[in-house]
Amino acid sequence: MSANGWAISAHGLTKHYGKLVAVDHVDLSVPGGTIFGLLGPNGAGKTTIIKLLTGLSAITEGSATVAGYDITADPMHVKQRVGWVAAEVILDDDLSGWENLWLQAKLQRLSDWKPRALQLLGYFELTDRRKDKVGTYSTGMRKKMEIALALLHQPEVIFMDEPTIGLDANVRRMLWDLITGVNKQFGVTILLTSHYIEEADMLCDRVAIIDHGKFVATGTPSELKSRVKADYIELETSESVTSERLAAIPGVSNVRSQGNAWILKVASAEEALPALFHALKTDGIRRINVEKPSLESVFIDLTGKRLDQTGSDVQDYRKFYMNVRRSRQ
Ligand SMILES: Nc1ncnc2c1ncn2[C@@H]1O[C@H](COP(=O)(O)OP(=O)(O)OP(=O)(O)O)[C@@H](O)[C@H]1O
Ligand SMILES: [Mg+2]
Repeated sequence: MSANGWAISAHGLTKHYGKLVAVDHVDLSVPGGTIFGLLGPNGAGKTTIIKLLTGLSAITEGSATVAGYDITADPMHVKQRVGWVAAEVILDDDLSGWENLWLQAKLQRLSDWKPRALQLLGYFELTDRRKDKVGTYSTGMRKKMEIALALLHQPEVIFMDEPTIGLDANVRRMLWDLITGVNKQFGVTILLTSHYIEEADMLCDRVAIIDHGKFVATGTPSELKSRVKADYIELETSESVTSERLAAIPGVSNVRSQGNAWILKVASAEEALPALFHALKTDGIRRINVEKPSLESVFIDLTGKRLDQTGSDVQDYRKFYMNVRRSRQ
């Protein structure tokens, strides 16, 4: 950790890919030992921020220190002090758990790695399976192994890029426990990215909501939620309605459209719903969803879009592709 107590500190962090501004003047301060979340839709710039902070991609403009070292002037020192857990499979399925740890130690030129490896296997309850090929592990065991590899060189900061993408609900929950456990047990700072509102809310001490390369809001999940003093009603109708007609319903303060749906901002859903049902025929409502203050409604409030719908097909595609890769091995 740096002398000023920040595990990660960035000022005006910017990345251009040609004309595209993938990361746009981002300021970021993550205190040591905390969990910080980047929450945003596909293409928002989350992975790019991780690439910049781990020295994998050059900064266009701005500056950052990670674990006390400047990422432009001292990339080697940064790399020695950070770990990365990505959604892509990084395990070698033909090797045992122990051999995967050995390989990781070779790649990172670690000398005295065995006590640490044994400690990690114990912590993740993989000691009994250490001689089995990783290809025979369950999804949850693989995730534990990936985190063990990332922790082997005792990093101060771990970057987790969508650690739970494509996992079923049970494994996702197990991983949440692992992430908070690792944060507490090893005192490691964690920066993770996610599409999942609930995940960021559950895990993160602080969250930045990112859209089109810019931070649109930063704070603790409860600070962010308390900013939104409204409910949102999402509505799909079978017959066409105009935004004027929806805006005229008592209690509705704002109307936006997203795809086939309308998003109505109301002071209180309980009070607005009867008026809404009165104004529209009940059987003309195909789908209705009430969003109470949550990180999702913060995102809607700031960007006018839902977070968990944007690009959901891309997510499914990736999950599909990951499974294909796994089954080939
Ligand atoms: N190597 C690259 N060359 C050109 N454009 C890139 C490159 N990497 C990323 N981009 C673009 O930068 C933008 C941000 O991409 P990034 O991968 O950081 O998004 P993300 O928030 O991680 O999205 P996702 O949730 O889909 O992973 C996108 O428009 C993407 O197409
Ligand atoms: Mg990404």
